[in-house]
Amino acid sequence: MSDTDAARLGELVDWENGLISPEIFINDRIYRAELERLFNRAWLFIGHDSMFPEPGDFLNTYMGGDPVLAIRQRDGEVRVFLNACRHRGMKICRAEDGNARNFMCTYHGWTYSTAGELINVPNLDTAYFNELDQRRWGLVEVAQVAQYKGLWFATFDPTAPPLEDFLGDMLYYIDAWVDRSPGGIEVLPGAVKWTIHGNWKLGAEQFGGDGYHAVITHASSLGTFDPTFLRDVQGIEFASRQGHGYSMIFDRMTRFADDPLGRYNESQVRARLERLGEDRANTVGNFTIFPNFSGLPGSANLRMWHPKGPNEFEIWSWTIVDRDAPEEVKRAQRTSAAFTEGAAGVVETDDGENWDLIGQMLERGTQTRRMAWNYQMGNGHESDNDPVYPGRVLRNYFGEGPQRAFYRRWLEFMTSEEWPVVEQTEPDRREHRASAMGALSATPRGGSR
Ligand code: FES
Ligand code: FE
Repeated sequence: MSDTDAARLGELVDWENGLISPEIFINDRIYRAELERLFNRAWLFIGHDSMFPEPGDFLNTYMGGDPVLAIRQRDGEVRVFLNACRHRGMKICRAEDGNARNFMCTYHGWTYSTAGELINVPNLDTAYFNELDQRRWGLVEVAQVAQYKGLWFATFDPTAPPLEDFLGDMLYYIDAWVDRSPGGIEVLPGAVKWTIHGNWKLGAEQFGGDGYHAVITHASSLGTFDPTFLRDVQGIEFASRQGHGYSMIFDRMTRFADDPLGRYNESQVRARLERLGEDRANTVGNFTIFPNFSGLPGSANLRMWHPKGPNEFEIWSWTIVDRDAPEEVKRAQRTSAAFTEGAAGVVETDDGENWDLIGQMLERGTQTRRMAWNYQMGNGHESDNDPVYPGRVLRNYFGEGPQRAFYRRWLEFMTSEEWPVVEQTEPDRREHRASAMGALSATPRGGSR
C-alpha cells in the first residue's frame, strides 16, 4: 500500500475519533498528491475587489503550487490565467501587482494581452515562417472564477460545483466580515509575506478553530495587554461540512480603547446590530475557508497559507478596514495590524515559533512522525440543529470540531476520483443561503489549453 492510497490515508486521518497522524504534515508524496487532488480542484481565494479595481489591474498569486495572474477586464470581470509562458514556461509577470496593458515574457519576448491572447511573437516571419497560429497559444486559463461580495475565488476544475455550494453555511459567518457596513470592506495596499518552516495545514487548522492555543501561546503578548484575556470566554465553534471553520466570541463589541480605532468601532455598534443582528454583530470570529484562506479579527487580517513544500509555507497577510471608515481609522488599523499580526508582530511570532519547531521535529524525527495527534476536544458535544447558528455547532469557544471537519474534507479530496460533492446546507438553513446568494456571481470559463 502506498502512502497516498485511500486506505492508507484513511488510517492516517481518523477524523471521527479525533486522531490524526503527523505524517500528513511532512510526507513528500502526500504533499505532491495534495497539490494534485486538493489544490487542483478546490475553490481557492484569489483576492478582493479592492485589490484590483481598474481594468488592467492584476494580482500575482498562487493556486497551490502554480503561479496565476488575476486580471481585471474592461467589462469589470476578473479572469485568472496560469502565469506561465506557452513557449518555455517562464513567468510572464513577476511584479506582485500593478496595472498593465500587456505582459511580455522576458525570455524570448512572447507577449500576451490582459485577456490572455498571444499578441506578439518576435521574428514571427524570419523564425517561424509565419506558420505559428497565435490564436492557439494564449495563456492557459483556470476553469472557473466566481466572487462572493467582492471576494474572488477560482478553481482549475471545470467539474467543481458552484462557489455557493462550496461555501455553504460559511456564507452566514463570512457576512459578519464582508457585509458589516454598507460600503463593504477595503483591503489596504500591500501584502506582508513571510515563510514558515512547517506545513501549511498547521496555520489553516488553527485559524478555523483553535482558540484554545491563544491563552497559552499568546500569554506574553495578548495576555500582557489584557490580563483577563479569554478568561470566562463565551462563544461557539462552527464546523462546516465543506471543511470550513469559524470560532466566534460573544459580547466583544462592548469594550473599546480610547483611540481612533476604538472610537470608530464604538460608533458602529448600532449600525452593525441593525445590519447583522445580535447573533453576529456583537461578536468577533476567526475563520478558515477550506483549504487555505483565513481571517483574524481585531487586527482585521485576511491571509493565505500558500504551500511551498511539505515543510514550508508562505503566509500572505492583508489588513482590511471598512471602506467608508475615516482615513485616520484606516491608518490606525494598519498600525495595529503590523504591531500584532505582521511578520514580526508581537502576536504573530508566538504562532510562528510553534509551527516552525513542530516542523523541525517532524523533519528530523522518526518516532515523532508515528505518534498520533489528539483532535478530540468537544467531540460528541456538537449539534447540527442549533436554533441560531447554521452548520455543526459547539456551544463552547474551546473545541476541535472545525479541525475534524477540515481533515474530513481533506481526506475526501485526497481519496475521491470525482470532485467530492457532499450534502449541502441543512434544509432549514436554505432560506438564509438564498438571500446571501443575491450577491454572488459565477463566471464559467472555457480553458484555452
Ligand atoms: Fe516566454 Fe520563450 S519562454 S518567450
Ligand atoms: Fe495564534
